[in-house]
Amino acid sequence: MNMTSLPKHIAIIMDGNGRWSKKRLMPRNVGHLMGASNLRAIVRACIEKHILHLTVFAFSTENWRRPPEEVATLFDLFVRYLKSEIGELQAQGIRLKVIGDHSAFPKELHDQIDAACALTAQGQVLTLTVAINYGGKWDILQAMQAWQRAHPYENLDQLSQEQLTPYLATHPLPEPDLLIRTGGESRLSNFLIWQSAYTELYFTDLLWPDFDAKALQMALDSYAQRVRRFGKTDEQVQSLGAAKKGITST
Ligand code: FPP
Repeated sequence: MNMTSLPKHIAIIMDGNGRWSKKRLMPRNVGHLMGASNLRAIVRACIEKHILHLTVFAFSTENWRRPPEEVATLFDLFVRYLKSEIGELQAQGIRLKVIGDHSAFPKELHDQIDAACALTAQGQVLTLTVAINYGGKWDILQAMQAWQRAHPYENLDQLSQEQLTPYLATHPLPEPDLLIRTGGESRLSNFLIWQSAYTELYFTDLLWPDFDAKALQMALDSYAQRVRRFGKTDEQVQSLGAAKKGITST
């Protein structure tokens, strides 16, 4: 594949675990378990396809509205996933990052996140960012508050978009090139709303546990065919592409 048409950073909204289990007359937890196991497979597939950064939405600031038993099961799953995956993450050169409002996390999850992030900090192959208790609106607001704390004598009027970027939870990751949502809905649901301003969106009806390496390749193929203009005209983009290939003399 032409490496310039390969996204550096893929973000995924892993939707459809509940419907996956409902279709099989199984409890929702089974769908989440299958979802966790699918995450493992997709991380591996991303490494094989030379993707550098993968960011997944595991729990949104709105997911607290779910039944308390489901919330407890999900948090339990995150703790167990982090514990069981540390060895594999290290072996594969994966650097783990967890983003979101951690203030409401149970202590066990806090400790497990700290341990897993510290132990994988040297990973160079892929950054796996897991968004837990994350919301794009929360992220923008916390970034502004953090900027203000760091610049107590400056006025918000002096804040630029570039200055805010280092305070976003995703820093220093590049913005996602491709955002995939499984499960048939076509919306961002408050995921990386600032960072996705120019991201290519890909929606599929496949439920998350069914989204396999072949489905990932289809998303990559769709991405490779898109022309990213970043606000420029078609002509500007074409002449830039030609210049890169050495076709023009400029
Ligand atoms: C959406 O499916 C999924 C979630 C809210 C949880 C995502 C969690 C996992 C994929 C588990 C693995 C993650 C980690 C980090 C171990 P849904 O329940 O909204 O499905 P539905 O729309 O069909 O009800």
